[in-house]
Amino acid sequence: MKLQYQLNAAFTALLLVIMAVTGFVVYSMILNLLIQDEERQLEQKGELLVRFLSEEYGSSRNIDEFSHFLESQDLQLILYDRNQNYVYFSTMPVEIVQGFADNNNFSNNSEGLWEYKNNKFVTSKKVVYPESAGLELILLTPLNDLQSVQQNFIMRMFIVFLVGAMAAVLLSYFLTNKLVTPLTRLKRQLKKIEKRQFDEIERVKATGEIKEVEQSVFEMAEELQRYMHSQQIFFQNASHELKTPLMTIQGYTEGIKDRVFDEETEEQNLDIMIAEVKRLKKIINEMILLAKLDSEQSAYEPTEVYIASLMARVKERVLPLVQEKHIHLDTVIDERLSLYVDEEKMLRALLNILTNGIRYAATTVKITAVKQNEKIVLTVEDDGKGIPNDLLPHIFHRFVKGKSGETGLGLAISRAIVEQSGGRISVDQSMLGGARFVIRFDK
Ligand SMILES: Nc1ncnc2c1ncn2[C@@H]1O[C@H](COP(=O)(O)OP(=O)(O)OP(=O)(O)O)[C@@H](O)[C@H]1O
Ligand SMILES: [Mg+2]
Repeated sequence: MKLQYQLNAAFTALLLVIMAVTGFVVYSMILNLLIQDEERQLEQKGELLVRFLSEEYGSSRNIDEFSHFLESQDLQLILYDRNQNYVYFSTMPVEIVQGFADNNNFSNNSEGLWEYKNNKFVTSKKVVYPESAGLELILLTPLNDLQSVQQNFIMRMFIVFLVGAMAAVLLSYFLTNKLVTPLTRLKRQLKKIEKRQFDEIERVKATGEIKEVEQSVFEMAEELQRYMHSQQIFFQNASHELKTPLMTIQGYTEGIKDRVFDEETEEQNLDIMIAEVKRLKKIINEMILLAKLDSEQSAYEPTEVYIASLMARVKERVLPLVQEKHIHLDTVIDERLSLYVDEEKMLRALLNILTNGIRYAATTVKITAVKQNEKIVLTVEDDGKGIPNDLLPHIFHRFVKGKSGETGLGLAISRAIVEQSGGRISVDQSMLGGARFVIRFDK
């Protein structure tokens, strides 16, 4: 069942319950209230009449004159002599008065309602002055009259309820529609995300929590689109990078098989093939490492690592390259600094950066590790040509490399490791002339 129908049904049910309870309470109270009110009115009328009678006719006590006057009033009444238990006069038919006399005790003052056949009467008694005369004026109103007032009232209340309920249901429909429409639209947008039709996604106007959900959905779609795009680029680059060495190897093996090379060239070609196979192996290993870092499959085992000892290990590894290229390694390291990281992974990250530096430096590579503004800052810079401006924003992306680059995965791996270790890596221009890589850790 649609949410809108559910909300409307719940609201209507609630309204019906409230109306039924109100209707029942009003219905059961209204007759009593009408009776009480009628009694009061009869009492007031009786009082007026009795006072008038006492003043006008009191002295003469002429019952006939009483009767004459009372007859002229448009009232249902009985003039009764309590002392003699005798009805002097009544504006009501004789058989009804007789019926009252049979069914009810005229002298009983506490009897509120009198009954005759199936009809009941509201009564009020007043003693006519002087009391010793024993004359009583009894005023009556048939309950039927009050019941028709009650029916009339209930009928009107029912009509008011009906109109009110209709207006309320219409209003509820309008409000729930306003609430549900953005959700329905949002559902349509989610369907588009599911079908990956990112370009067709439209913003949905909404308020409150729905607006927040809409915002999150939109951001999620953007993120998903970015992710899918980067995956696509990654696969394109990866297949291209793998295809190139494979084609070289294929070309040389076919040449060797067809014996198109002389012995010396064949030897050289085999060396090229070995180098290409090594490159392939390196690309694949780096891709596997990146995939592991991405999925956080590889266990990350942080320990307290002193930067000085970590750098000593890095320098040891790059020593052959440093000697081969006659590079001067300049290090400024604060011996007290330590990091809480996975040592082997951090070693790998720094090695990638330092190998690049040594490869591209002219004469010098400088490494520093200092504490700045409560942060540990590591820098690796060189005096080479630096990174071309067009490469700079993408240098940490996978397979992004310069003219003399190898796989273009080294810096992507370094960034993944640094970020996994809670640091940030950036690159800019060094004062020495080349590139400067900066890694910052919050301490
Ligand atoms: N210190 C540097 N000076 C100048 N260019 C650099 C420097 N470091 C990196 N680069 C450029 O950035 C590119 C990407 O470097 P990265 O380490 O990611 O890949 P790579 O060195 O080509 O391959 P790999 O490191 O996987 O062997 C390099 O190809 C190079 O063009
Ligand atoms: Mg590199």
